[in-house]
Amino acid sequence: MPIKIGEIELKNPIIVASGILGLSQSIFDRLYQVGAGAIVSKSISLFPREGYINPTITTIKGNSYINAVGLANPGLESFTKEISTNNVPLIVSIVGSTIRDFIEMVNKLKTLNILGFELNLSCPHVEKMGMEIGDDPKAVYDIVWNIKNNSDKPLFVKVGMGNSNIIKTAKIAEAAGADCITAINTIRAMKIDIETGHPILENKIGGLSGASIKPIGVRCVYELKKNIGIPIVGCGGIFTHEDVVEYLMAGASAVQIGSVLGFGGLNSLDNILKGLSNYLKLKNYTNVSKLIGIAHRS
Ligand SMILES: Cc1cc2nc3c(=O)[nH]c(=O)nc-3n(C[C@H](O)[C@H](O)[C@H](O)COP(=O)(O)O)c2cc1C
Repeated sequence: MPIKIGEIELKNPIIVASGILGLSQSIFDRLYQVGAGAIVSKSISLFPREGYINPTITTIKGNSYINAVGLANPGLESFTKEISTNNVPLIVSIVGSTIRDFIEMVNKLKTLNILGFELNLSCPHVEKMGMEIGDDPKAVYDIVWNIKNNSDKPLFVKVGMGNSNIIKTAKIAEAAGADCITAINTIRAMKIDIETGHPILENKIGGLSGASIKPIGVRCVYELKKNIGIPIVGCGGIFTHEDVVEYLMAGASAVQIGSVLGFGGLNSLDNILKGLSNYLKLKNYTNVSKLIGIAHRS
């Protein structure tokens, strides 16, 4: 099931999404071994971030989570050491507050053996990072433009459900030189403990992921496909190969899976891949890319 996302060639269209499985080289290696087409790291910032205190994640009925981890990560210095011998298709997710943060990160990371970058413009629960930047069109343009002018590596821009229109943000990213759009990130949400009356998460508000957001992700990919020319990677609520097919038909060139790995473990990756391969055979598709954008024909 080899596919191309622009110039990037992957062994299959299933990419592991940022943030679910941590940041160690051993887990990246393991994910590639069990079948992932590529892996996106948890978002890295220039300096270490402790993130929020527990509870940072809670489950929601119907295979979903709300999390507010607060972009906890060890920072650029430590992460570059961790992946210094990387040999798998790793996309490094980066997050920051200023153009200088991004330039410094990109200049250091581009010397390593990585596939590319994913710019996280869509974290819904950390101030002055992620979504707040994604909601500022000038910042989006400037950051994307500067990253592209400091590195030849492919740049995925991850857009989400902020205040600005997702299509507008994606178009700005495309105009500034982004190679691909990833859609979507988690969606602002909360859960309250009705015994105590307190919000469950320490940060009160977090981001909803998992099965409940899939129809929104599919809608976003469909609308993006109508409005931009660069490839789209679909993300949000993928649990089965049927979900993958739906995203591809909406216009995604590949997909990312996150929460399913929390609920079903690494086996879920293998199940999705086998299911997809069987589906292609059953429907006589010679290549997985034949599914891309089918829903736009009608
Ligand atoms: C615990 C957790 C941590 C996450 N951390 C990040 C992150 O660091 N950077 C990012 O871009 N997305 C992060 N995400 C969002 C996922 O990459 C993905 O966009 C989202 O969960 C939707 O996909 P899913 O429904 O398959 O999980 C995180 C999601 C979860 C559940």
